[in-house]
Amino acid sequence: MTVPESKNNGAQRAVWPLIRRLIALVWVYRWGCLCVIALQLALLSLGMLGLGLTGLGVDTIRYHLPVAGTSAKPPLWPFGLSPPAAWSPIANVACVTVGLLAFAALRSLLNAFYTVYVNHLLQGKVVVDLRSRVYRKLQRLSFRFFDANASGAIINRVTGDVQAVRSFVDGVVVQILILALSLAVYLVYMLRIHAVLTLACLATTPLLWFTTARFSRRVRPAYNSNRELFDDQVRVLSENIQGAHVVKGFARQQEQIALFEKASRLVRDQKRWIFRQISVFQPLTGFFSQLNLVVLIAFGGYLVVCYEKAPDAAAAAAAGLSVGQLLVFAGLLQQFSGQVANVSNIADSMQQSLIGAQRVFEILDAPVEIRTDPAAAPLPAIRGRVEFRNVTFGYKPETPVLRNISFCAEPGRCVAILGATGSGKSTLLSLIPRFYDVTSGAVLIDGRDVRNVPLDDLRGKVGIVFQESFLFSNTILANIAFGHPEATREAVERAARIAAAHDFIVDMPDGYETMLREGGSNLSGGQRQRLAIARALLLDPAILLMDDPTAAIDPGTESEIMQAMTSAMQGRTTFLVAHRLSTLRRADLVVVLDRGRIAQAGTHDELMRSFGHYRHAAALQIPDRRSLLLLGESENTAS
Ligand SMILES: Nc1ncnc2c1ncn2[C@@H]1O[C@H](COP(=O)(O)OP(=O)(O)OP(=O)(O)O)[C@@H](O)[C@H]1O
Ligand SMILES: [Mg+2]
Repeated sequence: MTVPESKNNGAQRAVWPLIRRLIALVWVYRWGCLCVIALQLALLSLGMLGLGLTGLGVDTIRYHLPVAGTSAKPPLWPFGLSPPAAWSPIANVACVTVGLLAFAALRSLLNAFYTVYVNHLLQGKVVVDLRSRVYRKLQRLSFRFFDANASGAIINRVTGDVQAVRSFVDGVVVQILILALSLAVYLVYMLRIHAVLTLACLATTPLLWFTTARFSRRVRPAYNSNRELFDDQVRVLSENIQGAHVVKGFARQQEQIALFEKASRLVRDQKRWIFRQISVFQPLTGFFSQLNLVVLIAFGGYLVVCYEKAPDAAAAAAAGLSVGQLLVFAGLLQQFSGQVANVSNIADSMQQSLIGAQRVFEILDAPVEIRTDPAAAPLPAIRGRVEFRNVTFGYKPETPVLRNISFCAEPGRCVAILGATGSGKSTLLSLIPRFYDVTSGAVLIDGRDVRNVPLDDLRGKVGIVFQESFLFSNTILANIAFGHPEATREAVERAARIAAAHDFIVDMPDGYETMLREGGSNLSGGQRQRLAIARALLLDPAILLMDDPTAAIDPGTESEIMQAMTSAMQGRTTFLVAHRLSTLRRADLVVVLDRGRIAQAGTHDELMRSFGHYRHAAALQIPDRRSLLLLGESENTAS
């Protein structure tokens, strides 16, 4: 299998800037990291002391149990702390054993504290802080960002990839510092025991560094594309869950299963490739790190024989090593090799965390397209005059969806927008609260370009009923009060009454406290839309945008809502995407869109007088004579 290619190879070269950025991110937690390092240092020292005591114990026993043909050499107690000469051999050994056990107990205790502290620092601080930073950034990003990125990929970044940054702290930064510290301590200790033996044993170490560097270069692209493949898998899964009705309705379960399995297979193959690399690399580094054992046994064994054969203690110290010293040396060498072999884990964590961090930074760096000059003057109480001045807009600038749109909605008036599907009605409305910015021209409110009005101010003055209303998993009350959480219960009920929602709400078992399921799936489409209307009305907005608000509502209820809305619309500039003649008739201005251009504009009466789209659309809704006759006949029969 070849090295899996990533779609994003350009970013691979930028490793150092990424590392620098991660370090800057971790710098905020430097004191916490310092504590972690201090704890590690304490653990390391206790480990060293334990090891030293083990060697001392062996040498003490060896001293008190002389072997025939060799001279006994007294053990070397550290810091001149030898026990009184009157102590028996048993007391000497017991003293060493008690010290050993005490250090071991202290080490276990410190280890437990270390685990709790590291978890608190990383999971409780680093991850939580970063996650909320990413989440806050997501709130500021424009619709364009969400258009371009699948929701599954965004969720993966907020949940999974943020963890990668955590693993940069504990799996890379802390580990590298521990590695450097412990290697230095082991090295100094080993050099103190026997310099030549140390150099001989460590001759294979450069081989390890070389192998590690090769491994890192090889697996990094694979980790990158692995995250992308995982995004695809999550996308298939989330689309399948969201579109469960469609999948079942069209009996496409088998195809969906095949699609998901394919996505899973791709992730698995990719992971398998990485594991194969690891399975070659780790034993290789393990083997290289154990090569020094051969040197230890041969050269170290020789040094012990020299030590034993020496006539006295002074000659022995110059000629070689005691059994205890060799034991300590072997322990140190083993720990040293273990740490060096750990480089492979660090390299692996590093690659994973760099890929994760890169994906998190992509969100943090995503440009906030819709922004306002911070010095922009707030929008005072507005009259609600909305003007489109020669507006052209395209989701991609090169393919305009709206062209040269110019019209004006006078304060308190109702503008109806009519047009075939895809003609740009929803797009036109989305330019008023600046979900997107115009490509050229301007949208003005009371003569001020919306781009020069603070965004929260602008959106606070505009109430919106979207074409597809989204409700949150919360109570009905909270959903209606979403834009105005401090609204009184009376105000909420008033808005619900106007939206013809009050009656069905009080009929529900828990009334306004009824919990809605995700997306309001325990309501009908029409009920959801009525809640959305109530939610917009509660804001008491100066400008009200309603994108086909009664599309999923029966004609009877629609006329009920529209009548109540007539009073609610008083004093507000309303933009209403509508198709029904009864609604269009009430509008002060009807704008007819045709493939992104204004085809006609005027009042119902004016438009009916001229031949064009409007008259044609209206004619389709006027019942013909035959249906009126049928209606008359059935009414006569009924009476
Ligand atoms: N987020 C988007 N990204 C790219 N193109 C889009 C996006 N939303 C809409 N479009 C395109 O812009 C055009 C106008 O879409 P719009 O939603 O404004 O139509 P509409 O008049 O509201 O239609 P409908 O009556 O079906 O709601 C369509 O061709 C559509 O494909
Ligand atoms: Mg639309």
